[in-house]
Amino acid sequence: MKSKREQLDILNLYWEKNCKCELKKTASRAVFGDGNAESEIVFIGEAPGKKEDEGGKPFLGAAGKFLDEMLEGIKMTRRASVDGARHDFAKSNIYITNIVKYRPPNNRDPEQKEKDDCNEWLINELKIISPKLIVFLGRHSMLRFFPKEKIGNIHGKLMIINTKEFGKQAFLPLYHPAAALYNGGMRETLIKDFKKIPKALEKII
Ligand code: URA
Repeated sequence: MKSKREQLDILNLYWEKNCKCELKKTASRAVFGDGNAESEIVFIGEAPGKKEDEGGKPFLGAAGKFLDEMLEGIKMTRRASVDGARHDFAKSNIYITNIVKYRPPNNRDPEQKEKDDCNEWLINELKIISPKLIVFLGRHSMLRFFPKEKIGNIHGKLMIINTKEFGKQAFLPLYHPAAALYNGGMRETLIKDFKKIPKALEKII
C-alpha cells in the first residue's frame, strides 16, 4: 500500500500533465498542495499569487506570514525551520492547498471554469488525505461546498454535513488572510475564529 505522500505525488504528476485549466498558459507552474499528508486538518485557499507562482508552494507571501502567525497561536506549524527555507513534512501539523492550482494573471479572482477544471484534482487530493477537518480560507473555497452561503454569515461556524464526495465531513469557513490582513475588523474576527480550530478538532469524532 502506498503512503498518502506517495499517492499525492502520483496524483500531482498526473494532473500537472492532464489538467485542462487555461491558466496553465500564463502561470509559471502548477502550485501543488503542501505539508503533512497525514494531517487531520487541511486548509484550502483560493489560487496562487505571484510569490507562490515563483516559489511553487501555497501561501508564501504576506498572507502566508499572517497565516503562520495564527498557526503558531494555536501551537501548529507548517514549517520545520523558522525561515521556511526547508520543509520537513513530519513536523508540519497541517496540509494546505488551493482550489485553483495555477496563478490567475494579475492575481484576479479565479473564474468558475478555472475552478471547475481544477476540481477533480482538489477532490482527489482531499480523498487521499481524508482529513477530520477542512478549513476554508476565504469564500472561493467555501463556495465549492456551500454554494448558497455567504462567508460573512458562516465564518467561524463548524459545519458538519453529508457530502457526495467524502460522506460526513466537517468544515470550518474562515475569512481569507489576504482579505483580513489590512482590514482591522476582519483581522480581529479571523484571529478569533482561528482560535476555534483546536476545539473544533476535539469535537469531531
Ligand atoms: N492566496 C491563496 O489563496 N493561495 C495562495 O497560495 C496564496 C495566496
